Amino acid sequence: MITFSHVYKTYPGPVHALRDVTIEIQKGEFLFLTGPSGAGKTTLFRMISAFDKPSSGIVHIAGQSVGEMTSSQVPYFRRKIGVVFQDFRLLKGRSVFDNVALPLEIRGEKPAQLQRRVDEMLENVGLIYKKKNTIEQLSGGEQQRVAIARALIHQPGVLIADEPTGNLDPQMSEEIMDLLDRVNAQGTTVFVATHDHELVKRRAKRVVQIRNGQIEMDQ
Ligand SMILES: Nc1ncnc2c1ncn2[C@@H]1O[C@H](COP(=O)(O)OP(=O)(O)OP(=O)(O)O)[C@@H](O)[C@H]1O
Ligand SMILES: [Mg+2]
Repeated sequence: MITFSHVYKTYPGPVHALRDVTIEIQKGEFLFLTGPSGAGKTTLFRMISAFDKPSSGIVHIAGQSVGEMTSSQVPYFRRKIGVVFQDFRLLKGRSVFDNVALPLEIRGEKPAQLQRRVDEMLENVGLIYKKKNTIEQLSGGEQQRVAIARALIHQPGVLIADEPTGNLDPQMSEEIMDLLDRVNAQGTTVFVATHDHELVKRRAKRVVQIRNGQIEMDQ
């Protein structure tokens, strides 16, 4: 369902952010992406969400080649992929509800349908009682859950989460991971980038480890 085949990504400099990366991910898998700061984790995720294209090699997702996608195909492709960004990218000053509703609004969902789906999603992530609060009024863990809810609202087949427990305490990190496990149990492919080795060790999942843009381990 997701295939990286001999993928290279070179930024001007040149910075060799990815070097000969080959990975195969099955539909419904849950896996971690680990590696030190600057290893290329976010770069790899940017390919999966078609925010960037490989310099060479092939990235195939759900039957589409990211490198060959036209700019008009990208928005439709992104509906298949949920993205939780390293820095959340939530709309400050707007409510929890508005943040989660945004992707559906962009798609022109009918108000009654939108209301129902957002409420359902907020129930699912345990934030229905905060739906009218603004982002500033939430804790880090709550903001993270809003970011996950927004990524899932359009029911993507794939969820990528970049450091979803980055600034959270261990208990909150476990809660976020439990939430991602539940999402995976419902059939979504989940790919999580993290620095947190303890968290990875506690969960018996596939781990892809990268360093200096190269796959160091995949097991
Ligand atoms: N737009 C860019 N232009 C030039 N270099 C970049 C760009 N984006 C990333 N890089 C470089 O590519 C390398 C990989 O960066 P990347 O953000 O993928 O690392 P990361 O593993 O996500 O790190 P972190 O754990 O700190 O988030 C780094 O050396 C970084 O400086
Ligand atoms: Mg990163």
